[in-house]
Amino acid sequence: MEAYRLCFLGLDCVALHRLVMKNIVKAIGDEIGVGKESKLYMGISEDGGTVVIKFHRIWKSFRNISKVRSYGNETKGTSWLIKSIVSGSREREALTILNRYSINGVPKFYGGALHAVVIEYIPGVDLYAVEYLENPEEVLQQIIDIIKNAYSKAKLIHGDLSEHNVIINLENMKSYIIDWPQYVSTADPRAYEVLKKDVENILKFFKRKFKLDKDLNEVIRYIMKGNNA
Ligand SMILES: Nc1ncnc2c1ncn2[C@@H]1O[C@H](COP(=O)(O)OP(=O)(O)O)[C@@H](O)[C@H]1O
Ligand SMILES: [Mg+2]
Repeated sequence: MEAYRLCFLGLDCVALHRLVMKNIVKAIGDEIGVGKESKLYMGISEDGGTVVIKFHRIWKSFRNISKVRSYGNETKGTSWLIKSIVSGSREREALTILNRYSINGVPKFYGGALHAVVIEYIPGVDLYAVEYLENPEEVLQQIIDIIKNAYSKAKLIHGDLSEHNVIINLENMKSYIIDWPQYVSTADPRAYEVLKKDVENILKFFKRKFKLDKDLNEVIRYIMKGNNA
């Protein structure tokens, strides 16, 4: 008897086929990047718009990251492909909720399949690579307000926030928080700890690069103000 093993490229093809069948995309374009745990391509949506097709690709690094993840352990012993599908569906869940509450500064979500997520293309630069900002205070405040809105309206915390998961559109200086599969609900017992880590990462970056000094506890209080969660 012959046996077959599906590889990542095969899974990408199956997912892409489903995206086309579901009328979410009609074409795939150039690769735009390889992230820590994904591969991204430009795409064209059914109505001709430019989108990003993100294929989750959980690979060996997952071992380390899984220690702090809120998910993935349930797939222990199963393959990287399954872990990637779980990661993709986690990101789809987060984006669906964030879009439902119209959280500003989060990419629009168009649909997905298996480990693939189709989102709005954000023309911009990853925050970690930005060398100069005319008004860093304003950019930091925008990021804090996205965290606050996600927290208070959508009841979600990013869970993997850092300068690597923020894109700044340098044309209009609008900030976006991307890469949501590690999200945690505000009702989760670890919520406070996860929120604190997210905010701390961002504040540390702005302190190091733009010499901005904001008090962590004050920012946390601002984010949680008016919430009982
Ligand atoms: N919607 C988007 N528009 C433009 N570039 C994006 C978008 N989403 C991700 N990217 C780019 O791809 C990189 C990896 O995406 P990300 O969602 O952070 O995946 P990973 O889990 O692999 O870190 C980002 O750092 C960013 O440069
Ligand atoms: Mg990322």
